[in-house]
Amino acid sequence: MEVIVKNSYEEMSKLAAEMIAKIVRSKPNAVLGLATGSTPIGTYKELIRMHKEEKLDFSNVTTFNLDEYVALPPTHDQSYRYFMNDNLFNHINIDKKKTHVPDGMAKDIPAFCKWYEEQILKAGGIDVQLLGIGGNGHIAFNEPGSSLGSRTRVKTLDEKTIKDNARFFKTIDEVPKYAITMGIGTIMEARSLILLANKENKADAILKTVEGPITAMVPATIVQLHPKATIITDKAASSKLTREYAEEPSVLKR
Ligand code: PGA
Repeated sequence: MEVIVKNSYEEMSKLAAEMIAKIVRSKPNAVLGLATGSTPIGTYKELIRMHKEEKLDFSNVTTFNLDEYVALPPTHDQSYRYFMNDNLFNHINIDKKKTHVPDGMAKDIPAFCKWYEEQILKAGGIDVQLLGIGGNGHIAFNEPGSSLGSRTRVKTLDEKTIKDNARFFKTIDEVPKYAITMGIGTIMEARSLILLANKENKADAILKTVEGPITAMVPATIVQLHPKATIITDKAASSKLTREYAEEPSVLKR
């Protein structure tokens, strides 16, 4: 696991975008695992810039998103499908048919989850999975206590997650209580992982993830077991780490 501490959110986002772009350039039909939330927005902005200014080509890229709220239609401005269209897909030359976000309106959710896993396999597996981290250490909607071997399924959101996400809804009662999420086992099958964290409110979760023991109570700690995981933070999110970490990934130095 490589930990990179950048000076700012912008630098963190730029490095994540560079790492993703490198994969897309070397494998035009790459399969990207994508995330929502405030953290990856800067990365998506940089990928859009690379598409517009450097002709980064997404025409053969396939994507799979980590999660989606249950019972929120894709037209709802807080649905993750809406978020992805708005923050990335509408601004690059991706074929929307190759973009996958779990269907929160699916009538048979377990059957949908099985289908979603099959689609990932059919696409050849995920080349790089982008991840944010919750203040409680969750990855996607795998809340503390989630099985570290879990697959795509429906989960009840943690009280803390509901509170954290209330800022996006008019009232806390409007925050969905359930979500479909890739499982931790599903995420760990991606060929590489990039976990991003910025701001002070992630410092505890990053301390546990990087320097703590692996535990289902902090699902992000599982990335310690991934053979190709990079954690990129800004200074604030790394402020509680006790060891020194690099500012550049070793692979880019080579
Ligand atoms: P955030 O959410 O990027 O909005 O902080 C991350 C997460 O909860 O996984």
